[in-house]
Amino acid sequence: MLNFVHDIPTKLLFGKGQIENLAEALKPYGKNVLVTYGGGSIKRIGLYQKVMEILKENSFCVTELKGIEPNPRIESVTVGVKLCKDHKIDVILAVGGGSTIDCSKAIAAGVFYEGEDLWQMVLTAKEERKALPLVDILTLSATGSEFDSGAVISNMKTHEKLGGSYTYPAVSICDPTYTFTVSPYQTAAGSADIMSHIFEGYFSRTEDSDLSDGIAESILKSVMKNTPIALKEPENYSARANLMACASVACSGIPEYGKQGTGWPCHGMEHELSAYYDITHGVGLAILTPRWMRYILKKDPSVTGRFAKFARNVMGLEGKDDALAKEGIDKLEAYFRSTGIPMNLKELQIGEEHFEDMAKHVDKMRSLKNAYVPLTAQDIVEIYRACL
Ligand code: NZQ
Ligand code: ZN
Repeated sequence: MLNFVHDIPTKLLFGKGQIENLAEALKPYGKNVLVTYGGGSIKRIGLYQKVMEILKENSFCVTELKGIEPNPRIESVTVGVKLCKDHKIDVILAVGGGSTIDCSKAIAAGVFYEGEDLWQMVLTAKEERKALPLVDILTLSATGSEFDSGAVISNMKTHEKLGGSYTYPAVSICDPTYTFTVSPYQTAAGSADIMSHIFEGYFSRTEDSDLSDGIAESILKSVMKNTPIALKEPENYSARANLMACASVACSGIPEYGKQGTGWPCHGMEHELSAYYDITHGVGLAILTPRWMRYILKKDPSVTGRFAKFARNVMGLEGKDDALAKEGIDKLEAYFRSTGIPMNLKELQIGEEHFEDMAKHVDKMRSLKNAYVPLTAQDIVEIYRACL
């Protein structure tokens, strides 16, 4: 087990009715609030109205940034930074899914960025920066942005979607009832994202970090148990609550404590798909994950034992390691399919025309030479081809 540091400064307010604490969460930071949100789902579910009521009752001065895109764009970050400067914003309140929270993190840091071009900030976002305080209200269980410092920003002109570290939210309000209205497609995609955050750390060379492995396996089992329930009964509180709690912990670093880093290969490959084709992150991950698993299992059979462990402990299979490793992957693919996710790139009208460029870009931005099983650009092209 390797050394690790636990330092997550975010206060999570989890559960029904936690919005009652919103005013108290914002008050320490000042009166001028920038409320950020996406394409309007928060208005359709009545959350926007509730937030505005609370802000008005408590005499906050509100500026709004609406229309943040799924796969948030650098242009929205630029508009947000200008709003913060023009309106002397003290604190940002992000209301939405990972895209809104991510964009808001980049805005919060962008206010203090000294260069002219905020895309340069994205290109160099290696560690936390000075930033405005950020409070968020989560409406979709997926990314874990509510409990980490990361954000992923896209530049569709250059076909780049880049993850970086910006700032942790000061407070995250996580009320599962706000996710009752998430569509089946986004519910399934969000769950695939949660699972991928676990896979990216679980398949590591460190074999003796029992606590991390146990947390990881529990999260995977809980997501596979609760996603079908949430799909069938969108207002099942228990299912939505379990998905939300799993989402926050899955990407927090906790399931990787004590473990050797892996380079997060599926995320590297998926961000290229989104950068070229603007697809939903979790869908890209669900398509890539089983193909990546089969590819590395074949390339380096020394990983068989870990895949067999996954098959036994998570997928509930029994048998000899060699067969089990493959059966676990097949069962995982069947599970993703059962949640309604398209499981081939062709279903998303994606062909192989950009595979070489995408693979070179993954190789350049996030070398996978030190991945769990090292991957070259050519390996990545092969994995993309297997997804067709
Ligand atoms: O834009 P609105 O109208 O709000 O609609 C959204 C959007 O269309 C809708 N939605 C959200 N909450 C809803 C709802 N619809 C009905 N009811 C609700 N309660 O869902 C759609 C998708 O929203 P989005 O925020 O894009 O989804 P998600 O939370 O999956 O975020 C995806 C983004 O996060 C990045 C992804 O790459 C992608 O850009 N990631 C961020 C990470 C992080 N910060 O740590 C890690 C992840 O690996 C990921 O890369
Ligand atoms: Zn993800």
